[in-house]
Amino acid sequence: MPAHESHRADQAAFFRGGGSTLFAEERALLGDLAGRAVAHLMCNTGQDTLSLAQLGATVTGVDLSDSAIASARELAAATQLPATFVRADVYDWLRETAAGTQRFDIVYCAYGVICWLADLHAWARGVAAILKPGGRCVLVEFHPVSNMFDQQWRLAADYPAGGRLLALPGIGDYVGASEGGLTPSGYAEGMQNFVNPEPCYLHQWGLGEVVTALAEAGLAITALHEYPYTNGERPFAEMRADADRRMYPPEGVPALPLLYGLAARKL
Ligand SMILES: C[S@@+](CC[C@H](N)C(=O)[O-])C[C@H]1O[C@@H](n2cnc3c(N)ncnc32)[C@H](O)[C@@H]1O
Repeated sequence: MPAHESHRADQAAFFRGGGSTLFAEERALLGDLAGRAVAHLMCNTGQDTLSLAQLGATVTGVDLSDSAIASARELAAATQLPATFVRADVYDWLRETAAGTQRFDIVYCAYGVICWLADLHAWARGVAAILKPGGRCVLVEFHPVSNMFDQQWRLAADYPAGGRLLALPGIGDYVGASEGGLTPSGYAEGMQNFVNPEPCYLHQWGLGEVVTALAEAGLAITALHEYPYTNGERPFAEMRADADRRMYPPEGVPALPLLYGLAARKL
């Protein structure tokens, strides 16, 4: 997290000037946010949460990480954007919120959340439970097909399924490696050659499993888009960026889904 943050140039000025870290895909799926109550699950350091607030949402960001939430609160104070940040495990927070009376128009999750979920069904049931009737879940996520390739675009792994564990040496500095893709406020040199000493274990879920978990929780899928690019991040070699920080495969690599966006409505 400190490595990621070290590359983000003056974020407070960026937000005070009306900046947003949201991409067009989530903006389109989220729709008009003015006056909407939004829960942003696994919000990390809160840039997207504050971008939702910037669009008029009353927003609550939730994350497990002490340092991420501390950083999000600091940025909220520096920008004077109204947002509530809660440090909690997502399952606990969903259960406790469901037991109370607070309900949301939208639950938003994006970019690297599904891989942290050991229990997709508990998550989906929790999301459904905290939505108002007619409320929506919006999810923008890396496409599981992209997990089948190594960095050089070689087919290297089975299609993700069953929450199978993937052991990684440690989450790397993907913000620095994005070459500006994840730093819309400006790129700062920051920490160089960061190596994360903490190994991690990710859960691999297929797209059908995510959709089915939401459907079984009582949500009707209203949109499921697959995009032949990623947003911001450059997980593979020689990705080509367009002016909107969409990252496409290099020439010679066939188009394949690298990202998906889903909207689902509580019945
Ligand atoms: C890749 S980040 C998501 C980035 C986020 N979309 C954003 O706006 O920057 C994944 C986040 O999930 C959080 N996380 C992982 N497991 C969690 C859990 N059980 N409960 C709450 N947050 C969790 C991590 O702390 C991390 O901040």
